[in-house]
Amino acid sequence: MNRRKFLRIGALASPVFAAKNSLANNFNPITKPIVVSTWANGMPVNAEAWKILSTNGTALDAVEAGAMHIENEIDCCVGLGGYPDRDGKVTLDSCIMDHKANCGAVACIERIKHPVSVARKVMEKTPHVLLVGAGAQQFAVENGFTLEPEVLSEPAKKAYAEWLKKSEYKPVINIENMGAGKEQKKQNGPFAPAFFDDGTVNHDTMGLVALDSVGNLSGAVTTSGMAFKLHGRVGDSPIIGAGLFVDNEAGAATSTGTGEEVIRICGTHLVVEFMRQGYSPEMACKKAVERIVKRDKAKAQTLQVGFLALNKKGQYGAYAIQKGFVFSVKSERENVVHQSKFLI
Ligand code: GLY
Repeated sequence: MNRRKFLRIGALASPVFAAKNSLANNFNPITKPIVVSTWANGMPVNAEAWKILSTNGTALDAVEAGAMHIENEIDCCVGLGGYPDRDGKVTLDSCIMDHKANCGAVACIERIKHPVSVARKVMEKTPHVLLVGAGAQQFAVENGFTLEPEVLSEPAKKAYAEWLKKSEYKPVINIENMGAGKEQKKQNGPFAPAFFDDGTVNHDTMGLVALDSVGNLSGAVTTSGMAFKLHGRVGDSPIIGAGLFVDNEAGAATSTGTGEEVIRICGTHLVVEFMRQGYSPEMACKKAVERIVKRDKAKAQTLQVGFLALNKKGQYGAYAIQKGFVFSVKSERENVVHQSKFLI
């Protein structure tokens, strides 16, 4: 499904419709299976995961399939089509975690199309959790993954050429402001404002968590990380407890935005622990966001972090520092993009 088509589906689900369903979700004792993903481009990701969830497949298979779907797309922030680091290299981060706390991750891996599947192999075939850089690539090749050519996608080439004009070390927080959003608005015309007040498209890391028909939770994250980062920089996405955490008793959470701030508070582990204490997914995400903002209020004005959580009942919720974070939900009742609440 192309971007135009999924944005249209999201647009047809009006915010009012989404709000009603969100409320229903909170009252329903158990909603399963269900998958929730960061951003509006989570819609086709969820659709892919749903094919597995709706046929009694596992949450683990579903989240891997969802992540693989977006890794195949040309996207600013995920996969080999993503924006490069300051040296012009695309380096990818990914992780996956299941209901038994099995987990695997790769960081700063180059020229591999499906880092999420390499992460799953790390989980299933090694005693380790995280492989990085050349070692991760070597492991991937040894396990049958193809080494892809080292070329930038056309949008990435353009964005990098633009960045090189100033070569400022100023990581782009809300990458949609670089023009991708305006381009999307042009393409989607009247549909875009249905869920973006200012017409921009806000997207970043893809994180998704799912609850399957037998009640098990799993999650996956995949990203090319912060655009124009220092070569070797790794964000929260492949760090278990930062970009993703799953506890089959309490719930699962994922994050998006400035990874450094998420790592500093072990963000998704914190969200899951708040759910264990009895907080709803939305309140748990809010409390984690508050933790970031409290640490450095001034800095928080300049960055974005969003958390997205799902509990054992299939209740979900999100919270972000700034306006603009949206997330996608797919269950038997819903197939919508919701706006996240925000603190600032
Ligand atoms: N949240 C993605 C990153 O900071 O790399």
